[in-house]
Amino acid sequence: MQVVAGSVEDLRREGCRVVSVEGRPVGVVSVGEEFYAVSDRCPHMGASMCVGSLSGTLVPSDPHELVYGMDDRVIRCPWHGWEFDLSTGRSLLEPRRYGLRTYDVTTDDGQVVVHA
Ligand code: FES
Repeated sequence: MQVVAGSVEDLRREGCRVVSVEGRPVGVVSVGEEFYAVSDRCPHMGASMCVGSLSGTLVPSDPHELVYGMDDRVIRCPWHGWEFDLSTGRSLLEPRRYGLRTYDVTTDDGQVVVHA
């Protein structure tokens, strides 16, 4: 199943748009030249992830080093701050236990398409 989320231009301007994929809300997120699509319902209490924010996080590094990475690839829930990797959907804190479903996204003739 494929769902056209909208034009590349509109989605870049909006940053995130919620579309229905097989009856489920999916957030289509624009980051630089890339698009990601994840479930728009936080697994904690159901907040809309599209209302959240994007950031990075500290990534694994050598002892006594702080290395910031994943810039704009971490989506943060607006209600209680749970964070998820946009590319895998996995929770940063408990990746084995919590996650957002992810969907493939392509662009075709200026349109952003979500694949279920
Ligand atoms: S509803 Fe998302 S962290 Fe609580």
